[in-house]
Amino acid sequence: MVKQNKSAWYSSRAVWIGTLTLGGGLIVASSVALASPAPAGSPAQAAPAAQSQAKADQYPQLPEGPGKQTTIRVCSKCHSPTNVIANGQSRQGWEDTITKMAGLGASGSDEEYTEILDYLIKNFPQVTTKVNMNKATAADIEKQLGFSTKQAEDIVAYREKNGNFKSVDDLQKVPQINAMDVASRKNRMTFE
Ligand code: HEC
Repeated sequence: MVKQNKSAWYSSRAVWIGTLTLGGGLIVASSVALASPAPAGSPAQAAPAAQSQAKADQYPQLPEGPGKQTTIRVCSKCHSPTNVIANGQSRQGWEDTITKMAGLGASGSDEEYTEILDYLIKNFPQVTTKVNMNKATAADIEKQLGFSTKQAEDIVAYREKNGNFKSVDDLQKVPQINAMDVASRKNRMTFE
């Protein structure tokens, strides 16, 4: 269970607002409405009611289970929710991440955050290994980091054409890979 009350979830919000201009000039507002469109690269979130089976199928990479739909609804506004695949961590780690996301402008109720926390703890336990972006196959990039099949293939194709990536900044040069795709997975990537 999440111990924090609603105000605790939001307490660090002010600190984060205004710091959200990422590399690509992407600006994240704290007041994103529930039904706002997903960022480029994610399947469109057509309706705010996210409970239908059709929506579940939008992210087949995410395991089925209680909390999946809530996670997709609350966590797909700024980056693809599949980034959670890349960020498996302890219970405390997930609590901290959700608190951080609320601070960044995610909007959910206490109940929703608790559901999301339970879903994440159950399905994405701690992983410490990193993926070497200069050696990994497209299949590994997809499976371990939660990039889409197309994105994973594009990353490998770009690497084959242009040589090794030196850093996360290089990775953003791949067409269809934006700053947020990279930032939300950076802890699991190395460039050796
Ligand atoms: C208001 C926009 C926004 C929403 C909504 C959002 N995130 Fe994020 N998320 C971000 C940003 C920005 C980063 C990159 C932060 C950084 O680089 O420090 C990020 C990064 C992450 C990371 C990578 C680890 C980290 O701490 O940087 C994870 C995991 C994550 N988000 C999970 C979630 C989950 C789970 C939800 C739903 C509860 C969510 N996000 C909703 C903006 C958002």
